[in-house]
Amino acid sequence: MITVKSSAIAHSNIALIKYWGRSLDHNPNLNIPSNDSVSMTKYGLTQSTHLQTHTTIDFSDAYQEDSAILEEKVLARRKMERILKVVDPLRKYANIDCKFKMMSRNDFPTQAGLASSASGFAALAIAAANALGIDFTKEEISTFARLGSGSATRSIQGGFVRWKKGNSHETSFAEQICDPHKFNMNAVIAIVHEGKKDVTSDVGHESAHTSPFNEVRILKSQQQAKDIQKAILDDDFCKVGRIAEESSKYMHAVMMTSNPPLFYWHPSTLRLVRSIQEMRKRGMKCYFTVDAGPNVHCLCRPEDRYELQKMLGRIEYIKKIIPVKPADDSYVTKEHLF
Ligand code: PMV
Repeated sequence: MITVKSSAIAHSNIALIKYWGRSLDHNPNLNIPSNDSVSMTKYGLTQSTHLQTHTTIDFSDAYQEDSAILEEKVLARRKMERILKVVDPLRKYANIDCKFKMMSRNDFPTQAGLASSASGFAALAIAAANALGIDFTKEEISTFARLGSGSATRSIQGGFVRWKKGNSHETSFAEQICDPHKFNMNAVIAIVHEGKKDVTSDVGHESAHTSPFNEVRILKSQQQAKDIQKAILDDDFCKVGRIAEESSKYMHAVMMTSNPPLFYWHPSTLRLVRSIQEMRKRGMKCYFTVDAGPNVHCLCRPEDRYELQKMLGRIEYIKKIIPVKPADDSYVTKEHLF
């Protein structure tokens, strides 16, 4: 009997230059983006939430069919299809055709705009490649994580990461810009709403090209990716913050003007954005970025984080705050979930 089991822990990431919309020139299943994106892989600094996914996968000829469980729920249809998009090509590459059982747990709410798909598919790609005995570089693993979710491409490596859009499966991968200690940035995530979002980013990407502003956003994003990479390497926090805010606003402008339109912001999102602008006027160095959900990441220097946490902690409509710092690489662990 063949049986090969492996587990991995992967971190989530926050995009500083956003990926929004797949390239229309390629097979949409490949998740090739229309622009480069840049992110910080993040590690949650609370006791219960490190913003990571722990996944175990076991390939065995004792299994009659593939199965996957996330948070004690058996996955079916679209969710299972996305898992197979990562596992099938790896199984083919390794020339192993036995079935698998996968189990996965997040230490944070799934699908609430905290990038659970990024850590989820990164953990899956690392665990599956390791179980199948495939000796890939981190860049190569990132291409397989991408097949499950674009943002997962950037969660294989720690610190600050750039996903180069590329023009094929092999050339659309993520590279580390610098390790977590080289650029001093933290963030405080302000949760203003904890429920699941109505439209997942997986579906939202499809409408990006219907916005009249999409082409401009794509062009601007390429320049922003270059500029932010330089600002990160120059340790220029304010420049990183300014470019990240701009990228987030461009993405939401495209979302809101797409057909059908997507409004991920809640009234409390806008209230908080205005408070952050106000805090900045009063001298606090902080910048906002918002993903495909209502919650706000407030970027800051590590030495300002406690003060910022205190300020955000006093705002009554913020349900929870999660401070984060840059994470190390995602990794294989010997701790199995079953
Ligand atoms: O990886 P996806 O399909 O969940 O898309 C992620 C989209 C954003 O989070 C909004 C931006 C990004 O680059 O992570």
